[in-house]
Amino acid sequence: MSLLTIRTYGDPVLTAVTTEIELVDEKIRALAYSMIETMNEAPGVGLAANQIGVQKRLFVYDQGDGPCVVVNPVIVETSGEWLYLEGCLSVPELSWEIVRANAVHLKGYDLDGNELNIEAEEYQGRIFQHEVDHLNGVLLIDRLNDEQRREAKITLRERRLELSRRDLDALHQLLGE
Ligand code: NI
Repeated sequence: MSLLTIRTYGDPVLTAVTTEIELVDEKIRALAYSMIETMNEAPGVGLAANQIGVQKRLFVYDQGDGPCVVVNPVIVETSGEWLYLEGCLSVPELSWEIVRANAVHLKGYDLDGNELNIEAEEYQGRIFQHEVDHLNGVLLIDRLNDEQRREAKITLRERRLELSRRDLDALHQLLGE
């Protein structure tokens, strides 16, 4: 197992749709364990494979009672609405109140190939919707209302500028200029 780098906003892997996993083999299991380790270290409550640069349909989550893996997840039914403060490891240090379905029915498979059928609501339902979004190339930025999105883009642009300014300062220092 090893820690993987979590890709952040602006990285094209986050907006590409992932492909279904045909066979859960040792490589997929090793990938899932590394993702769990990376999620725990972050720390976060969920991590999708494309967040670490792998375009496969798989996510891991841990809502506080141990890590779980879902292979080829699909949300087959949703109901209700729920407003909740939501963040993402790929958009660090920012969070927004977002309305999503309150309850979802998630189908998928575990690492042993057993079919999963989970009725989830509120917090767990939110994790499932967020992670399935990732696997479909959708970021929480895309779930914001117009005003939230405008503000988010300004904040993210400022942050990128700040980072490049810091790089430049470091470079100047290194070169003794
Ligand atoms: Ni996320």
